[in-house]
Amino acid sequence: MEPSSLPAAPERELSEGATRRTFIQGIAAAGASTVAVGAAGRAGLLDAAAAEAADGTAFGSFTAIAPSSADLFEVPAGYRADVLIGWGDVFADADGNEHVYGFNNDYLAYFPLRGSDEGLLFVNHEYPSPFFQHGVTAAPDKTTAQIELERETVGNSIVHVRRDASGLFRVVSPSPYNRRIKAVGTPLTFTGPLADDAAWPGIGTEAPGSLANCSGGITPWGTALSCEENYQDYGIDTGFGYGWTPAKLGTDVYLNGDGQTGPAKFGWVCEHDPYDPSFVGRKHTALGRFRHENTAFRAQDGKPFVLYMGDDRTDGGVYKFVSDYPYRAGRRTENLRILTSGKLYVARWEPGGRRTFDAPGGALTSASAGTGHWREVAESELVDTHARISAAEGADWVAHFATNRPEDIEVDETGRVWIALTNNSTANDVHGSVRTLVEAGDDAGAVGPGAPFTWLDYAPGGPDGAGFSSPDNLVFDQAGNLWVVTDISSSTLNQPGRPQTYHANNAVFFVPKGQPDGQVKAFRFANMPVQAEGTGPYFTPDERTLFVNVQHPGEESSGDPASTAGYTSYWPRGSKTTGQNPAKPIPSLVQITKAASGGSGGSPLIPPPVASDSKRPGLSILSGQLKGLRRLRGKGIVLRFRVDEPATLTVVLSGRLSRRRGGRGKVRRLARGTVRVAKAGEVRLRLRPRAAVRVLLKRERELPATLQVTAVDAAGNRTRRVKKMRFR
Ligand code: FEO
Ligand code: CA
Ligand code: CA
Ligand code: CA
Repeated sequence: MEPSSLPAAPERELSEGATRRTFIQGIAAAGASTVAVGAAGRAGLLDAAAAEAADGTAFGSFTAIAPSSADLFEVPAGYRADVLIGWGDVFADADGNEHVYGFNNDYLAYFPLRGSDEGLLFVNHEYPSPFFQHGVTAAPDKTTAQIELERETVGNSIVHVRRDASGLFRVVSPSPYNRRIKAVGTPLTFTGPLADDAAWPGIGTEAPGSLANCSGGITPWGTALSCEENYQDYGIDTGFGYGWTPAKLGTDVYLNGDGQTGPAKFGWVCEHDPYDPSFVGRKHTALGRFRHENTAFRAQDGKPFVLYMGDDRTDGGVYKFVSDYPYRAGRRTENLRILTSGKLYVARWEPGGRRTFDAPGGALTSASAGTGHWREVAESELVDTHARISAAEGADWVAHFATNRPEDIEVDETGRVWIALTNNSTANDVHGSVRTLVEAGDDAGAVGPGAPFTWLDYAPGGPDGAGFSSPDNLVFDQAGNLWVVTDISSSTLNQPGRPQTYHANNAVFFVPKGQPDGQVKAFRFANMPVQAEGTGPYFTPDERTLFVNVQHPGEESSGDPASTAGYTSYWPRGSKTTGQNPAKPIPSLVQITKAASGGSGGSPLIPPPVASDSKRPGLSILSGQLKGLRRLRGKGIVLRFRVDEPATLTVVLSGRLSRRRGGRGKVRRLARGTVRVAKAGEVRLRLRPRAAVRVLLKRERELPATLQVTAVDAAGNRTRRVKKMRFR
């Protein structure tokens, strides 16, 4: 297929002073308001009060929701949430090749084709799930075929989507844009100082694919950046290792993590062009090799291009790349060279970079603001960047370079840098913070001790802080409000007695613009299902749709992988909480829109509640109203029912004993029985009263009775029928 046959991509270049946000604004439909928001101080997070934002956009005004531990994806009333695509869904390219949407979707970005109505979703698939994919969780026990399955489900998806008349996006398939990048079979080219360099044997010119793709970013020249984060887990079969060993795969390319002996093929920032299916992805060695979380740029015409990046590890640092080539607005071919050459720097913080506490959930023992500068990273430090710099700096690393695990970074329209510091066990920081950094003289290229930046912890996490805990992905809307997604680990979520217990499930928070530094309140906009993390929040340019990826629902599931019994989540097809439709949990991409006014369908919950009677199991009582009393007090009676799906029937027969015969004229349970029905159709059940009741029945001549039957299907839906009977 010729790229020239594709529909023309929109203008993808920026003007001076642009940031990621203004890139979005530049391609957005006209008319978006930028009126400031005044929600701060109106109400706290935990009382679920209204967060009123006066910017007029679809997501600018909502009633905040309460924390939840339910196995549901939830957004406020007035919005609807719908799954767009999930693990295992098939989408085809124009040549008829079928591609499978991968596991654990993380980063996502929308690349417009026709504004906000048609575009390409670029999605990361961070890591596999041996438990849900093939069931063998002990890495040494995996077969090569099982590892192949895992290699297929990580990497990236590029999915063509289009809005339909109802305002919901659907996958366009087949489409010439649809494709996958995987851990094998989709080679990427190395660029930069370490590519094909004899001093760095093993990197060479090419990597076999991409893996551990956590978050990412876009560039103003219209490409996607995908960050390889926990690459150290793949080539080993110990600890967290996935067992992609040379013995199983005949290659040592995955054996390349911390202290491992394989070639440094993974752990880089990868660049892809979603608009060009023939584009060969690039791994940029100039950006260093660490646990890359994401990228956030600052581009000013004629100046070096600056890319901020976090190293998501305990006591990891914050980095920035300053390009050798200047950024040239509108000159795409030139700009595609930008990430191949430049210098990398790491932030040195004063008085220190870590936010420390005297105990988990305890008192703060470090500064909440300070200064710092950018220390150059030598070319010899580009591979295993963290290990080499921390070794060179010694005790100074923890004192001045370490931070509380940087996750996402964003740059706002003023050039202020926003960093999600998620948490850090070595600093007793359980809730994390959102930190901001302002460059010396507002110069993104400022480096060295003579050009100090200033920083402050803008939004501390925790119940006494902003309300969220463990911030991870960030995104700004066009009005300048910040959206924060949390990632409390699955093993910590909803555990009693933990500092995070108040938070319940992970969530999406709205942080209105214009709040005082350090006194920020966040408002809960979406709840994730059980043990899931929301990732990659991203707005369409018109901000009528907010995409959120739901990653690792039911991550703590255990037991027999073939049985739903040990699954901790059934999301999105079912809900463990309601017992609705036990099913394998599926990481999925969710689209959130305003519920159409006057329109039908849609729910603020995934899965939607079972509301209509038609969802309940069909149940009929076939037995007649008149029964033999002698038979009842003898062998018991046989009752007939009809069900239209597998269900468990519980049958209770009650009768009013007569006063005259020594009974007390009260209703008494005569007999009870249950039967599991394996398939739809007619079923019979014998009911026989206990001996003591049979004795009482000998005194009766005629007995009015009530038969109550309850059918419960596999999803927990319930139908109850009652029938009057008479025994003679
Ligand atoms: Fe994959 Fe740092 O989260
Ligand atoms: Ca993350
Ligand atoms: Ca982000
Ligand atoms: Ca995280």
